[in-house]
Amino acid sequence: MASKTLLLLPGDGIGTEIMVEVEKQIGVLNDVAGAGFETETALVGGTAYDAEGAPISDATMAKAQAADAVLFGAVGGPKWNGVPYEKRPEAGLLRLRKEMELFANLRPAICYPALADASSLKREVIEGLDILILRELTGGVYFGEPKEIVDLGNGQKRAVDTQVYETYEIERIARAAFDLAKTRRGKVTSMEKRNVMKSGLFWNEVVTRVHREEYPEMTLEHELADAGGMKLVKAPKQFDVIVTDNLFGDMLSDIAAMLTGSLGMLPSASLGAVDAKTGKRKALYEPVHGSAPDIAGTGKANPLAMIASLAMGLRYSFEMIREADALEAAIAETLEAGIRTGDVMAPGCTEVGTTGMGDAVAERFRAKLAG
Ligand code: IPM
Ligand code: MN
Repeated sequence: MASKTLLLLPGDGIGTEIMVEVEKQIGVLNDVAGAGFETETALVGGTAYDAEGAPISDATMAKAQAADAVLFGAVGGPKWNGVPYEKRPEAGLLRLRKEMELFANLRPAICYPALADASSLKREVIEGLDILILRELTGGVYFGEPKEIVDLGNGQKRAVDTQVYETYEIERIARAAFDLAKTRRGKVTSMEKRNVMKSGLFWNEVVTRVHREEYPEMTLEHELADAGGMKLVKAPKQFDVIVTDNLFGDMLSDIAAMLTGSLGMLPSASLGAVDAKTGKRKALYEPVHGSAPDIAGTGKANPLAMIASLAMGLRYSFEMIREADALEAAIAETLEAGIRTGDVMAPGCTEVGTTGMGDAVAERFRAKLAG
């Protein structure tokens, strides 16, 4: 089987610890399924800044562009609070997203039955939850210009961020939303603030037109992003695919993560357009959680979001559906067996650390692939 290249970018904080657990699962894929994954590891974030003077080097960018997929851990931490804004750890991640044109960020929020009581919401509100937040990832206020703090010369300053979207950017994320909904329950909810923002009005207009012209058979609903956030907490199961901009998507996906019990459970996929010539798409897979500097180095981090991100990679970059299903089932069974990291610990369960969790999943994954 042709080799498949993965660039591993563990990053900062718990990123390095959880990536080790993903490498275990890749080892299982190669051993048992002859998957032929070849991995290379490089620096990103604060550790890259310390060693190479930038949160991501040009050489690492070139490797990311060339790899079949990138697996990304997490970046940031108080250690780098003082570094120049352009070189802060997060800038490495933003450069990857922008230059690889990873405009579609899939953030599924699935409630594992075993974790229904770990959520701060009532069991009946989240049991069986399976929604997908589709966040636009290369536009909006994250990248809009001007983006600056200007000295007005009278003792005052003015800070500006620019929320900007062009037609094609909204069209392509809307199409991605409808295409994903087709494989699910057929419903898309678009969230913006059309009552306050021109970009919200325009977002609404374009999504509505794409629906009418290209996907009339699907259900489209619109919510103002604030009301949408409220409904996400009140009755999340009413949603299927939620499509929203970069900033609202950032916030709403953190909220959705907590519906599932812990931020440590949510994977994500950031995808580019399919290349007409090669049929391939650029892709980066990362957990939604951050670098958790408070627990970094303690061996307590939950690696499941990182491992589930690999499962998304198997599904979306390599069409290894059987293997993706097996890995996701291995995660679910590990939780059902009562094996928990501290963040999702419950009475009567067995608490393990990062390594213990990675081993428990690998053992079940191996058995499934071999069986
Ligand atoms: C995320 C993170 C990033 C974001 C940070 C690390 C730049 O919060 O992926 O959700 O704001 O997009
Ligand atoms: Mn975020």
